[in-house]
Amino acid sequence: MLTDASGLVLRAREAGVGVAAFNGITLEHGEAIVAAAERSGTAVILALSHNAVRFHGAFAPVARAYRALAEASSVPIGLHLDHVEDMSLVESAPDLGFGSVMFDASTLDYEENVRATAEVAAVCHERGAWVEAELGEVGGKDGIHAPGARTDPDEAAAYVAATGIDALAVAVGTSHQMRTRDAVLDFDLIAALRAAVPVPLVLHGSSGVADGDLRTAIARGMTKINIATHLNKAFTHAVRSYLLAHPDAVDTRPYIGAGRDAVAAEVTRLMGVLGPARTAR
Ligand code: G3H
Ligand code: ZN
Repeated sequence: MLTDASGLVLRAREAGVGVAAFNGITLEHGEAIVAAAERSGTAVILALSHNAVRFHGAFAPVARAYRALAEASSVPIGLHLDHVEDMSLVESAPDLGFGSVMFDASTLDYEENVRATAEVAAVCHERGAWVEAELGEVGGKDGIHAPGARTDPDEAAAYVAATGIDALAVAVGTSHQMRTRDAVLDFDLIAALRAAVPVPLVLHGSSGVADGDLRTAIARGMTKINIATHLNKAFTHAVRSYLLAHPDAVDTRPYIGAGRDAVAAEVTRLMGVLGPARTAR
């Protein structure tokens, strides 16, 4: 069933557990993530990034497909539009079932970030949507962010107050698009941010974090755990293996199916790692 991602995140924070947000790109990613959620009996957030929307060339077709997957699911699925840089995309999200939006103004300087994010938050709240934003660069994305970036707790609290956002993505040692799971997290900073910031904290770039560190990050105060690259690794590895083993393959279904199965298996495994994020029924 389609649910509000905001409810999943808020209930997870109250319970001191994590909620996974898996980024899909194609229909098959969405199918795999929802199938794994059902298999695990666990609510998840199915996210779609602005970059994925750019890949498709339009938001509505893929949004409607993801919404249909969520509505048909036996477990609650929240839809989230991720790393949006464009107000028109923000505005269209709620009507397409995406009641949660991450507005990414991280390339702007602090004042501009606050101004743009506050405007987006006001528009989203008018439409009943939930807004996440980013302060302190989460390393790696598009080469813009410094891997050593850290979010200052006091600045984070001031940023939340100034913008009116509902969730905050923080820089605590992760970096986007890591292919190895060896990021070194600053767990004391996570605890300090949890104490200083009144809204749920979001860990971006979680593909680079080892299983045990994901658990510790949640225990110290992270709530929403965003994972994308790790699933693409699983998908692409399975497709490559299939095609190497079947050099004469023509039908797209067996190899795309292999990719989809690999994503479902890894999402199922990660649900077990992240623990009892069964936040809604
Ligand atoms: O917003 C999405 C995430 O931050 C995913 O990052 O691709 O490094 O897992 P990742
Ligand atoms: Zn991210």
